[in-house]
Amino acid sequence: MNMARNTSAPAGLPSLDIDSASHLRAMQDYLAYRIQGSEGGFMPFEEWMHHALYAPGLGYYAAGSTKFGSEAPEGDFTTGPELTPLFGQALAGQVAQILAASGTKNVLEVGAGTGALAAALIPALNLLDIRPQYQILEVSPELRERQQQRLGSLHANVQWLKALPSDFKGCVIANEVLDAMPAALFSWDDAGNLLELGVGLENAAAQQAGADAPAESSEPPRFNLVGRPADEHLQALMSRRMPPLPGYRSEVNVQAEAWMRQLGTWLKKGAALLIDYGFPQREFYHPQRAEGTLMCHFRHHAHADPLLYPGLQDITTHVDFTAMADAALEGGLEILGYTSQARFLMNAGLIEILTGLDPHDAAGYAKVVGPVQKLLSEAEMGELFKVMAVGRGLDVPLMGFTSGDRRDRL
Ligand SMILES: C[S@@+](CC[C@H](N)C(=O)[O-])C[C@H]1O[C@@H](n2cnc3c(N)ncnc32)[C@H](O)[C@@H]1O
Repeated sequence: MNMARNTSAPAGLPSLDIDSASHLRAMQDYLAYRIQGSEGGFMPFEEWMHHALYAPGLGYYAAGSTKFGSEAPEGDFTTGPELTPLFGQALAGQVAQILAASGTKNVLEVGAGTGALAAALIPALNLLDIRPQYQILEVSPELRERQQQRLGSLHANVQWLKALPSDFKGCVIANEVLDAMPAALFSWDDAGNLLELGVGLENAAAQQAGADAPAESSEPPRFNLVGRPADEHLQALMSRRMPPLPGYRSEVNVQAEAWMRQLGTWLKKGAALLIDYGFPQREFYHPQRAEGTLMCHFRHHAHADPLLYPGLQDITTHVDFTAMADAALEGGLEILGYTSQARFLMNAGLIEILTGLDPHDAAGYAKVVGPVQKLLSEAEMGELFKVMAVGRGLDVPLMGFTSGDRRDRL
């Protein structure tokens, strides 16, 4: 079943320069080759998202585009730590409490982007007399290099891991990482049958015929979103989460859930702070959210076509925090807190940091307050973003959740 095709860019997207266009073509050819080799010419969407974001040398996170930046034309999107160092400074109190309760100095940051969070958090921990053993696990070699350059000047004890540890005690942090893990796409047809969505090649014959021609003279691959009957596993999963709704399309992040379950095998004592945009399951699969949560970001323009610029645009889905909590419980962890980003940062001391600023430096103060408002405002990141803490072996209530804890809504 043919669901949609990527014929043209949504209005208002900036045009591609020559380098971006040739990167896009290389990525399209790579994806077309993979689709031609897939069973039935069908690449499950989860796999498309994986290649589009992480294919070595070509994927969005694995190649050299700027990605992060708080304003156009720099990068494609921004994150809390990129907006302001006060994000990391506010986190420091909570991280310090987890380290004290777990009796270690180990911090493991997963998916550290440009290293912005570590660059703010490590000095803030130093001010609390903590010299953390800071570890980073980053899947993107390009970002790992950027982190190494940025954090090298901190003279801090930072180590880069090649894989998840098998045994860890301390504090784990993942800011906007679960949303960047490849998700599966599904929809219900008019008869109420569940379909798994994937990507097919619309001009497969032309691609086959032009396989030996130089890329620039052959027709570029054209992709379309196609559906096939969902397998038993997906059917069973979704039947537990929502009733069939003909025409409804959404996502399920099986990989992120597996990651959370696995966390339970290696986090032996301590807590993980998971910060991301998302909601509990009831809201995630709300009947009115009929197009799901899939979003793409290209140079600060958001749109919903994941087939458009593979390798050049970010592709992301919101986090189903109920599914993440269930997976953590299955992994033997406890849910230690769940609240909005605004509430968490205020509980952790962000307002106290602001009141400590020099009141006579009006220009400096204004520069700091704008980004902090973005972090806290309900209309921006304050409410859509949530913080969930999961862990084991801690016997203190975490300070970030002392008021406004919403675990009962999960
Ligand atoms: C949206 S960016 C967020 C970066 C950073 N945490 C921030 O807030 O600015 C997602 C990051 O997670 C990394 N990533 C995605 N999946 C990962 C995984 N399974 N393990 C480690 N890093 C991952 C990406 O390469 C990227 O650095």
